[in-house]
Amino acid sequence: MGDQQKNSNGPRKVTVNDIILMKEKGEKITALTSYDLSTATFCDKSGVDIVLVGDSAGMVMLGYKNTVPVNMEEMLLFTKAVCHGTKRAFVTADMPFGSYQINNNLAVENAIRLIKTGCDSVKLEGGKEVADTVSAIVKKGIPVMGHIGLKPQTSALWEGYKVQGKTKDSALKLISDARALEDAGAFSIVLEMVTSEVAKIITEDVSVPTIGIGSGFACDGQVLVIHDMLGIYENMKPRFVKRYLELSTLIPDAITRYIADVKSSKFPEEQNIFHMVPDEYLLLQQTLKETDNEKQK
Ligand code: KIV
Repeated sequence: MGDQQKNSNGPRKVTVNDIILMKEKGEKITALTSYDLSTATFCDKSGVDIVLVGDSAGMVMLGYKNTVPVNMEEMLLFTKAVCHGTKRAFVTADMPFGSYQINNNLAVENAIRLIKTGCDSVKLEGGKEVADTVSAIVKKGIPVMGHIGLKPQTSALWEGYKVQGKTKDSALKLISDARALEDAGAFSIVLEMVTSEVAKIITEDVSVPTIGIGSGFACDGQVLVIHDMLGIYENMKPRFVKRYLELSTLIPDAITRYIADVKSSKFPEEQNIFHMVPDEYLLLQQTLKETDNEKQK
């Protein structure tokens, strides 16, 4: 965000309006997922516009095989940690599966619980079928990010993870879903694994920004799972991800060197240790010697 103003407490927080303005100005929006204090701090300091506390946390942080088992308590904990690490970035928290489907009152209640951790908006998956829920949450004053295309919470239960919008009918459904979310008051829409043609049509069609993941270059912004772009897991390599680091080799290399250093007494070194006050050390030695002598008598 080029025109971010600084105040005495550091950078100004990115707002919903800033994100909408970025689309209007043609400035690309950057987003990354985070689930803890350390990665949130890295994202924030590097200038990412949106930090998404995705329910992908269930897979990359908790080892679930998909996002279905993730619950509110887990999302609240991840979101709290991320909020502690973000001063500038706009934070969106995923509403987990089951937290917004039962009825709108429960959805609003759960959105409020997430917002109370300090995040700036919530995200939920679905198009027309959740428009009424999006509208109910927005009416209570909570900004909502939509999410269409591949919807991991339900795709996992039906067809698996497949590219969306390959056919005319599928494209038309995505376009009308995006319009329904815009009409319901969503301030932005994630397009996950949508064909680049359809992502472009939607991006030009709706007034709110589209944030793409695996949906081509026409989207107003891009989001990636931070574990994917840092290469934390050797075997998680979706085609749409660009890896900027290979932590799956760098981290074990560092740990192996640490083990070798400890085993060979190369660590800790002088600069890693603490000393007694020298006079106190002499006194201690003297006292220990006297105690020893006493014992031998
Ligand atoms: O949970 C998540 O990380 C997401 C992104 C993939 C958009 O929803």
